[in-house]
Amino acid sequence: MRLDKLLANMGYGSRKEVKQLLKQKAVTVDGASVKDAAMHVDPEQQNVSVYGERVVYTEFVYFMMNKPPGVISATEDLRDETVIDLLEPLDQHFQPFPVGRLDKDTEGLLVLTNDGILAHKLLSPKKHVPKVYYAHIEGVVTEEDVEKFAEGVELDDGYMTKPGKLVILKSAPQSEIELTIQEGKFHQVKRMFESVGKRVTYLKRISMGNLKLDDHLALGEYRELTAEELNCLQNNP
Ligand code: URA
Repeated sequence: MRLDKLLANMGYGSRKEVKQLLKQKAVTVDGASVKDAAMHVDPEQQNVSVYGERVVYTEFVYFMMNKPPGVISATEDLRDETVIDLLEPLDQHFQPFPVGRLDKDTEGLLVLTNDGILAHKLLSPKKHVPKVYYAHIEGVVTEEDVEKFAEGVELDDGYMTKPGKLVILKSAPQSEIELTIQEGKFHQVKRMFESVGKRVTYLKRISMGNLKLDDHLALGEYRELTAEELNCLQNNP
């Protein structure tokens, strides 16, 4: 790959800006200063560095974010802040997108990647990737609701959901629950509770497949997935 393309792809600026870096002797290949933008390099075999820091070539990026409320799970929005706006410019450069959507007021686990194949795997209804949500519910959630959810409930548009596993964590003064579902219909958790006459007042996704939200991440924070987490998602979502 051409040196200027590699550096531009890795977020070191436009081709023009990269040329400036080369001119300033900021770039070395295997320890030798290089000025030739057209030089062909193999980033896996050769040590390409900028200001002494090695450029590790990656095509795909994988992040987990603790999505805060008030932010849209989309790549752009005319009015509201998006989850992409919360990423560092160097990470935005890879053009990641959120894998699935959380509502504006929902918090919690959101995977962002530019790997379309993994995103498809995680979102495909055929893969039945379980998603676990923690929620506060206005009103008392009952064992009858647990049974109804286990059979599947009818949403406002007549759609019958697949079975959901509802666990009551606390039932007074407001209910706290955990719900596992394998689908991702629009506002699904909220609409499932509406179908039994109850309202979700707080919603947070805590896991997706084998991937659990890192509870060290504050709202709005994100980090790269570890190799182990990525492996789990890729092989056994
Ligand atoms: N279900 C909802 O109702 N909202 C979400 O954001 C995710 C699942």
